[in-house]
Amino acid sequence: MQKQKIVSGFSKLSKREKLEWVAKHFFKDPEGVMRELMSFWHRDDDQQRIFDGFSENTLSNYYLPFGVAPNFRINDTVYSIPMVIEESSVVAAASSAAKYWLNRGGFKAEVIKTTKIGQVHFSWAGDTENLRDAFPALKQKLQQDAADITANMEKRGGGVLDIQLLDMTHLEENYYQLKVSFETCDSMGANFINSVLESYGDSLRAFVSQYAAFSDEERDLEVIMAILSNYTPECLVRAWVECPVEEMAPCGDDLTAREFAEKFNKAVRIARIDPYRATTHNKGIFNGIDAVVLATANDFRAVEACGHTYAARDGQYRSLSQCEIKEGVFRFWLDLPIALGTVGGLTRLHPIARRSLEMLGEPSAHELMQIIASVGLAQNFAAVRSLVTTGIQKGHMKMHLHNILTHFEATENEMLEAFNYFKDKVVSFSAVREFLEIFRSKTKTIPG
Ligand code: MEV
Repeated sequence: MQKQKIVSGFSKLSKREKLEWVAKHFFKDPEGVMRELMSFWHRDDDQQRIFDGFSENTLSNYYLPFGVAPNFRINDTVYSIPMVIEESSVVAAASSAAKYWLNRGGFKAEVIKTTKIGQVHFSWAGDTENLRDAFPALKQKLQQDAADITANMEKRGGGVLDIQLLDMTHLEENYYQLKVSFETCDSMGANFINSVLESYGDSLRAFVSQYAAFSDEERDLEVIMAILSNYTPECLVRAWVECPVEEMAPCGDDLTAREFAEKFNKAVRIARIDPYRATTHNKGIFNGIDAVVLATANDFRAVEACGHTYAARDGQYRSLSQCEIKEGVFRFWLDLPIALGTVGGLTRLHPIARRSLEMLGEPSAHELMQIIASVGLAQNFAAVRSLVTTGIQKGHMKMHLHNILTHFEATENEMLEAFNYFKDKVVSFSAVREFLEIFRSKTKTIPG
């Protein structure tokens, strides 16, 4: 074991001391690393303190591009969508799909339900029927004991919707669940849900230990864990686009509108039936979803986990979007379970997330669900459209080329020459290096 790399009391060090320790132990050039990472500290100490407060052991800030995709017509309101994403072409693709649908009816979206779920998992070795009989009294105690926690949410129109007792003993000996459903209004609700569930866990133990109708053996209960479920199939939004097939032109050099619509439809069907394709297809959807989820400081891990479970809900992983052509009308839609907040969490603490929400017109959680599902659908439309027409490399190459040129510290003039040169050539790292070597040897350009 490399003892010098083990540290105790690290969290107690100041930020600069932490950085010094890391720089000294993991880098060949500690001073250079210190300088570089400190150059990303916010110049305003108050702002920096906000960022440091989001996490632990922070050394610096990690930048990602904050971009915008304009012209998104969603339920007849036109939005400019804030997007945080490191992958080139995602914002361009979203913008191009937004523009495509702008005059073809735009995106429509509808929230189907907003119920969230939490669970108290427990072990109990008694008679299931006795527990069932005790459940109405237990339910009352759970609600009474958590009244202080739920009062505020109830004032906002939310709270606990239902509590069910589930007998899971056929799957695991003595295993039961309290399955609780919640409405959390404009907040994602994770803190609220987890506080209620932990209170339920304590009350459950207390109730069982004192319940007169239980035998002595039945007075013992083990709460295994109390936590929200990130699977929220009943917190669901649908986004869709539709238009007559003949209005879909222009759609690629060689395809008529009908041929394009049919080929697109077939590509979506393939993603419904083949998990390998479905995974990439859904990744394309999440390119758009994650970018807005991040821009609004929502929990992208929760959103991803939920979406992928939903995609496999019938036992096979499938595309989240679907397509049909009926009576001459092309229809493309996405059903997305997604738990979001526009209040609480980091949504109001992160200065750029706050601006993102302002840019979106201070949406409610409902509206944000509709916006994000529409962006996911747009992203998916753009990707599949490219795949069934030009292929995606054509669109990707410009940004790819730009990134490689930046890596080689190309000057503005070299960039111009390179874009011109690679217009009709395949871009690769080595091809760009070779181009620059030749160009620089001819012009004797000094990089930097
Ligand atoms: C790349 O980030 C996303 C795509 O691969 C999605 C897809 O294949 O549908 C283009």
